[in-house]
Amino acid sequence: MTLVVAIDGPSGSGKSSVSRAVARELGLAYLDTGAMYRAATWWCLHTGVALDDAVAVAAEVRRLPLAMGVDPSAPAVTVGGTDVSAEIRETRISEAVSKVATNLDVREELRLRQRAAIDAERGADGFAGGRGVVAEGRDITTVVAPDADVRVLLTASEEARLARRALDVHGTADATAVEATRDQVLRRDADDSTVVQFHVAADGVVTVDSSHLDFEQTVRAVLDVVAA
Ligand code: CDP
Repeated sequence: MTLVVAIDGPSGSGKSSVSRAVARELGLAYLDTGAMYRAATWWCLHTGVALDDAVAVAAEVRRLPLAMGVDPSAPAVTVGGTDVSAEIRETRISEAVSKVATNLDVREELRLRQRAAIDAERGADGFAGGRGVVAEGRDITTVVAPDADVRVLLTASEEARLARRALDVHGTADATAVEATRDQVLRRDADDSTVVQFHVAADGVVTVDSSHLDFEQTVRAVLDVVAA
């Protein structure tokens, strides 16, 4: 039997690292849908399309030659044969990604690809057998895979989220680093919230609040939801 685990959450909730650890622990594939929006943004900047031109951006994303690695230990993201795994984490991408991700035609295209990737991993009709998958993002529990076997919303207080992101980006969570992170994280969450709802759990979605949990405890809490 295969298992589909859907995990959503805001920026800095720890969902990427926790999702990867859960996938590793359960022997499942891992799909980072945020990386798909980041890769789409990388592609738009690479091709030079004006991000304000919604029709042109959607057309570019429809022909995005994207390959998503699903190994939770090394989920490589490749565009047209170029490994962009590191570049898609750069600030220039983080600053532009909401613009691309709030384009509804872009969302339709990437959601189709996300559903196909999930179907492939769970060995749905027409696909070879798979292991199952942990898929994470902002709208997986609600729109992409509302029929997932397990659905989790990973939350954390604003303070905890900013501290984690500061540590990721600046290597320290001192006051200066937190302030440098605040605007980008909160503005991105606010922009993203205009098209997807990921701050409150939808019906049937279990909330795991990681504000006062360390990494191992958070992974354990999600595994407990899977086992319940
Ligand atoms: O950096 P962080 O972990 O917060 O975000 P991410 O998971 O890498 O996602 C980057 C961006 O992709 C988000 O800010 C959203 O704009 C977009 N996204 C989305 O719209 N829907 C998803 N299912 C996943 C990400």
